[in-house]
Amino acid sequence: MRGDLERVLFDEPAIHRRLDEIAAQISGDYRDRELSVIAVLHGSLMFVADLLRRIPLPLKLDCVSVASYHGDSQSSGEVVFKEVTVPDVADRDVLILDDILDSGHTLAAIRAMVETAKPRSIQVCVLLSKKKQRAREVYPDYVGFEIQDEFVVGYGLDFKERYRNLPYIGVLRKELLG
Ligand code: IMP
Ligand code: MG
Repeated sequence: MRGDLERVLFDEPAIHRRLDEIAAQISGDYRDRELSVIAVLHGSLMFVADLLRRIPLPLKLDCVSVASYHGDSQSSGEVVFKEVTVPDVADRDVLILDDILDSGHTLAAIRAMVETAKPRSIQVCVLLSKKKQRAREVYPDYVGFEIQDEFVVGYGLDFKERYRNLPYIGVLRKELLG
């Protein structure tokens, strides 16, 4: 699978070092509060597992599952909720965790869905944020790394459901995007 990458952007130690920093920041910001984490699957799976184990606070974890790409590398703009139950986060301080902020469609839709549950607050944390003009404006409160507008895989991120299990993040070779 390494051969399918143009280059590695963040290796395992770099990811873990950055997670230490974000976790410390989140732990400070949310101390004495009722933290409810909402993980956006599947892409955020590794990120959520590694980040939450660095946050020594009592917290509740819910997962939502969405698809906006339908296996392709272009965002369709249509966001389909696979699991429609809205997490019960009334009066809670919600932290939404997602793998990557691209067009903004996914996080804008999730934020709107979470708002219907009347939480006390909502913040957004993404591992990666693409530097680009977004279709929907989303301003994440915590960002692991800013990246150029390139298609990346690994550490949870997929292309047609592959590469999620790579322990590092890299740019997929353009000719493979098809
Ligand atoms: P958005 O709705 O366009 O912001 O896209 C968010 C979702 O698209 C992410 O949660 C990912 O699942 C997927 N995505 C966006 N960019 C990439 C990428 O470079 N690699 C892999 N998945 C991506
Ligand atoms: Mg995703």
